Amino acid sequence: MCGIFGYKGISSDATNIVLNGLKKLEYRGYDSWGFASFQEGKIKIKKEIGRIPNYSTDFTSHLSIGHTRWATHGQVTANNAHPHTSKDKKVVAVHNGIIENVSELVEKYKLEKETETDSEIIPLLINHFMDEGYSFVNATKKACLQFNGSYAIALINKDSEELIAVKMGSPIILGIGENEFLLSSDIPALLEHTNKVVYLEDKDFVHINKHISISKIDSETKIIPDIKTISWNADSAEKEGYDHFMLKEIFQQPSSIRKTLDGLVENGFPSLNLKKIHLEDFKRITILGCGTSWHSGLVGKFLIESLARIPVDVEYASEFRYRNPIIDKDTLILAISQSGETADTLAALREAKRRGASVLSICNVVESSIARESDDILYTRAGPEIGVASTKAFTTQVTMLYLLTAQLVLKNKSLSENKVKEMIVDIKKIPELIELVLKEEKNIKVLANKLSKKNNALYLGRGIQFPIALEGALKLKEVSYIHAEGYPAAEMKHGPIALIDKNMPCVVIATKDILTYDKILSNIQEIKARGGEVIAIGTKGDFKLKELVDDIIYVPETRYSLTPLLSIIPLQILSYHVALLRSCDIDKPRNLAKSVTVE
Ligand code: F6R
Repeated sequence: MCGIFGYKGISSDATNIVLNGLKKLEYRGYDSWGFASFQEGKIKIKKEIGRIPNYSTDFTSHLSIGHTRWATHGQVTANNAHPHTSKDKKVVAVHNGIIENVSELVEKYKLEKETETDSEIIPLLINHFMDEGYSFVNATKKACLQFNGSYAIALINKDSEELIAVKMGSPIILGIGENEFLLSSDIPALLEHTNKVVYLEDKDFVHINKHISISKIDSETKIIPDIKTISWNADSAEKEGYDHFMLKEIFQQPSSIRKTLDGLVENGFPSLNLKKIHLEDFKRITILGCGTSWHSGLVGKFLIESLARIPVDVEYASEFRYRNPIIDKDTLILAISQSGETADTLAALREAKRRGASVLSICNVVESSIARESDDILYTRAGPEIGVASTKAFTTQVTMLYLLTAQLVLKNKSLSENKVKEMIVDIKKIPELIELVLKEEKNIKVLANKLSKKNNALYLGRGIQFPIALEGALKLKEVSYIHAEGYPAAEMKHGPIALIDKNMPCVVIATKDILTYDKILSNIQEIKARGGEVIAIGTKGDFKLKELVDDIIYVPETRYSLTPLLSIIPLQILSYHVALLRSCDIDKPRNLAKSVTVE
């Protein structure tokens, strides 16, 4: 949610470096953008609405900050775009997060705002303290102590070639290059400059002048930075020949799953190497997540309850902390998040910890806030997910939940050791099976053509495929703007059946299983009897299903508990091609942002 990029160093091309960094962060917000560059006591500022053009400037500068915005407070206008400045344009700031006590501060310090944003308060208040005689550093620290809310801020000022960064609740990472320092909201944008980074902690205050010093906003004591080396390379943040990140990421799923499994299986058994959490200590699990991660949590509930026989609740993180949840020492909190920065999930995790719960997380982004605040962490190894619509994050999360289930089964002895070994043999085959599904892209494109002309769609599934119906519908609405609903197939007759007619295509996940397959065939007949059109996802060789439906996409056979990892693939490809046919901005759907760092 909003991207920040900053540069100070030996290069005189700071502005273009920042613009280039912002382009890589654009997936975090793309309403408007802007930069501010310092040159000998002058600051050049540019702010525009819309996407960052292929703009390059010949303004030489060694110090620049920039921002790409996802509007929260104030409309999308050039005036509301960042950077924001003090009245005399002395102090210049870019901000990600929300300052909650703006009106209070405006009144207390008699400040005059000129934009609708909360962020403008930052340079105004810092400038106010500088006018009282405080240095840039001390005025910034003093101002930060007045702010309520969350922020990652980068700041420059007209009088000196200094760069300041502060973190409280919103992400910002410091990159350390050869004779240069960079600031970024996320790792991928840094990779072409350096793989040496410092994950800033809450309250960290970075001051870069001739040298760098890190302290806390409420202390003078210097902190020795913990410099980490990132193993992702710069290519992993590029499209590598694909037209869109979403397509690249869909096709990366076999390798992402292989990488996620790597090192977590030993002698045919799951080996999750948890350091602090002892799985045998818990009688219940509460899963927290948002959006796609919540959907993978629903698959997790199905797996853990049916195989490990442990009760599981799956909660929207955004609802959890506002309803006085019942958490006790027997409950394990399992937080799921690709980015590890989703504000709702982070807030729910903190609430659970405040109530004494132990937290295990499944995250993709190493050292993200959720990862760092959890007692133990299971990393999916999907690599950077840049497309706003989550794809490889989902399948790697489900892979991890399957491994966790297998580990719980072993602990609980709910199945024999041999059965657990068989579970592991089967998940290892999944990447190859996904490769077969990916070969169906041509056939799926034909169906995309039909679906692209509709305004609504119903996605139906039962059992473990119900979350896949939800996820398939979410993918379609996010990238193609076609209204889609996911429903448990049997619930259709309790209401949504009223919607069925020739204009309401139904995508039904009807893979073979012993529990609900026959029932879902009846649900399909109910749709057909009312003139509805059915696209089915079925198990290869299922001719009975083919006879019943208008169109079918086959996925290979696998064990029931692994079917979601196959059935979601054609639904991702379908959404991608529908969106392409409707000329939608696939990697940056309107109004969305990749990592939602505001509640
Ligand atoms: C959907 C999507 C979102 C995210 C949600 C949670 O395609 O990307 O629904 O799944 O915002 O994000 P993370 O997993 O980063 O916590």
